[in-house]
Amino acid sequence: MTSRTPRPPPLYRLVSLDTVESTNDEAKRLAEDGTADEWTLVWARAQTAGRGRHGRSWESPEGNLYCSLLLRPACPPGQAAEIGFVAGLAIFDAIGSLVLPGLEAWCKWPNDVLLGEAKVAGVLLETTGADWLVVGVGINLVHYPADTDFPATSLWQQGSPGITVEDMLEAFCRHFLTWYKRWRDEGFTPIRERWLQRARGLDEEISVRLSGETVTGVFAGLDDDGALILEGPDGDRRIAAGDVFFT
Ligand code: BTN
Repeated sequence: MTSRTPRPPPLYRLVSLDTVESTNDEAKRLAEDGTADEWTLVWARAQTAGRGRHGRSWESPEGNLYCSLLLRPACPPGQAAEIGFVAGLAIFDAIGSLVLPGLEAWCKWPNDVLLGEAKVAGVLLETTGADWLVVGVGINLVHYPADTDFPATSLWQQGSPGITVEDMLEAFCRHFLTWYKRWRDEGFTPIRERWLQRARGLDEEISVRLSGETVTGVFAGLDDDGALILEGPDGDRRIAAGDVFFT
């Protein structure tokens, strides 16, 4: 495996680590102790305590991409979720720019990316202090976990071996910057539109696992703030957090 230093666009301040518990935790630590600027990107080759959404763990052996970006988006906290969709689109485009043609990629609500029927990447958004947002990104290049509730995969398993973490980091950073500027200048509308064009399961029946129940209905779209709109027999339901399954 190569070990060159990645070169993200100049705005980013790259912090490269061999191993860390969680790049999200490290990014939060840097924000809280006042040593980090906006656009600090913490990248580690491996994590010993990687975290996913809803308190799940995120297996993080060397070979996949694990990074966390520190931002101060200057928007109300409720709007920060929109940046998860910015990250999802950036991952989608980064993967598209590097994999062999013919792989079918999708966005899965809220911020996952699928290859075929399985998850290849996820995003963990966390806030810290008054105004910091941490955008944690995991992309499975080589390894993927077995026995997950929703099936997982890696680029390697899908027939695109040889993509390095350095290449993927740079591609993600480039595409994130493009989409972030679009979001900053034009708001959530173009992000939402593009995400919906790439969404898996739109206008189809899906199940959403919530904390205490599972609900089923037609995935009718995204609300103005990124909440999922589920059309059921009793009308539309707006879902802010949950796990989607395709039926
Ligand atoms: C999910 O789909 O559940 C989100 C996964 C996010 C994983 C990334 S890996 C880099 C960053 N550090 C963490 O501990 N988690 C995120």
